[in-house]
Amino acid sequence: MLERLSRSLRRPHARLLAGLVAAAGSVAIAAAAPLPALYTKAQAAAGHATFEAHCSMCHGANLQGISGPALVGQGFASASNNYTVAAIFDELSQQMPAGAPGSLSHKDYADIMAFILSRNGYPAGGTALTYAAAGASTAKLVSQVK
Ligand code: HEC
Repeated sequence: MLERLSRSLRRPHARLLAGLVAAAGSVAIAAAAPLPALYTKAQAAAGHATFEAHCSMCHGANLQGISGPALVGQGFASASNNYTVAAIFDELSQQMPAGAPGSLSHKDYADIMAFILSRNGYPAGGTALTYAAAGASTAKLVSQVK
């Protein structure tokens, strides 16, 4: 086992480079995959209103961040953050709003997640996002906003 490891560490750099190039190629393919449509337009509109009432005082009306961090753009969710929808949803549904965590309804949390997805460039579709689906979603959350 150890012997095999040390042998592979002595491999020529050319091989390492070939591996890196192949990895970079597969990242490019992944990035080109279409974004999933996880919520409905009506849901994002409802989430906008809920966000205004419970979140915008700290995160900003345009999600730009005030006392709380920005919830849009690369500072929020870049590809290297490697976030999933579930990871962000856990944070907002379990920790937010700061001061009263978990105080909103399941529907309100799912609607707010839809609103955040819409502002980060994810498309609306025909099926509403549920609390359970958001909490289990392994979809990558990478902001499309530069
Ligand atoms: C009183 C101010 C305040 C309110 C209200 C508030 N937040 Fe936050 N939020 C914060 C702060 C501060 C942080 C960063 C520290 C932390 O994670 O606890 C944060 C972190 C977050 C994060 C994690 C961001 C990241 O980059 O990981 C999300 C998502 C979030 N808030 C969403 C919401 C949503 C949705 C609401 C409304 C339901 C809300 N917050 C209400 C202050 C607030």
